[in-house]
Amino acid sequence: MKIAVNTGGGDAPGLNAVIRGVVLAAYRKGWEVYGIKYGYRGLIDTKQIVHLTPDSVWDITNIGGTILGSASKGNPFNYPVEKPDGSICEIDISDTVVSNFKALGFDAMVAIGGDGSLGIANKFFKKGIPVIGIPKTIDNDINATDITFGFDTAVSTATEAIDKLHTTAKSHDRVMVVEVMGRYVGWIALYSGISGSADVILIPETPFNIEKVCKKIKQLELIGQNYAIVVVAEGAKPVGGDVTIIEKSNGEVRLGGIGKKVAGKIEDMLEKETRTMVLGHLQRGGAPTTFDRLLCLRFGTAAVRFIESGKFGKMVAFRSSEICEAPIEDAIGRMKTVPMDSDIVQTARSLGISFGD
Ligand code: F6P
Repeated sequence: MKIAVNTGGGDAPGLNAVIRGVVLAAYRKGWEVYGIKYGYRGLIDTKQIVHLTPDSVWDITNIGGTILGSASKGNPFNYPVEKPDGSICEIDISDTVVSNFKALGFDAMVAIGGDGSLGIANKFFKKGIPVIGIPKTIDNDINATDITFGFDTAVSTATEAIDKLHTTAKSHDRVMVVEVMGRYVGWIALYSGISGSADVILIPETPFNIEKVCKKIKQLELIGQNYAIVVVAEGAKPVGGDVTIIEKSNGEVRLGGIGKKVAGKIEDMLEKETRTMVLGHLQRGGAPTTFDRLLCLRFGTAAVRFIESGKFGKMVAFRSSEICEAPIEDAIGRMKTVPMDSDIVQTARSLGISFGD
């Protein structure tokens, strides 16, 4: 068997561990693995394909990023090309990818990616490429799996940052507003906010009322806590308002800036010194946690077992602490949001954390 593996979309800690899992498990079966560089680019320009052997992956479990490079742009179904007048148009070059895949003699493809990349993988499955998906994203917003890899590491990074902000906030009697990633869901904010003893957590799943946020901070003062930690998910929005966007180009939306807005309102309404910290891409970097390493090695090796048993069009998922399968179709297109009636939200409320709702 000749297996292709690629990593698509924004990187997440643990990508390399998944690659290692795929390569070593395949090697044990006498199969060959090739890395397709930069998402699908390596199947468009086939010079960007690398042979992966146990030697290429032996020391990469703990290394962040991806040895294959990743690409958030360049979807072969809407591939951007420059027209003679310098403008950009999109064309469908997916047939080139399929014919190159076949011409190179590949038998299966392991696509490691988030919602967008898994959607592309599913389209290639429908075009005849035998695909196995692996759910990656720090946002944890993919359906049909309890958890995606990269999430645990991002939460650890955010929690550590929140821990550090407590002491400086306390020293200066300030409010610290920490903006974390997560796109349109609040998993990172919720997990890191609870673990980092935040006073307020604002998530997209429940629009916030700034008066209620300020009321919570006032209540803290009454019990002698003159500082506060407010964790804001980048996708959080006020009641009746919309998400805050940094940039909008070519139909692409980047979230960000809500932390600054919330801080400004708190400062105006309470006349209390407030500072903002945007954690940004720090959450995507660094070595994966032990949990993520193990999850990734389980995902990668399971993908090879899926190939052996012909489970194509499936995603390797993780439910109730076990590896299982789910149709890629079930994982994509619909975000896994935080259920507001879940025990984790109830935990936060029982701890006195305000959601500003
Ligand atoms: O999906 C992962 C993620 O880090 C989101 O949390 C964030 O909104 C986005 O990617 C940032 O994307 P980029 O790397 O393109 O700035």
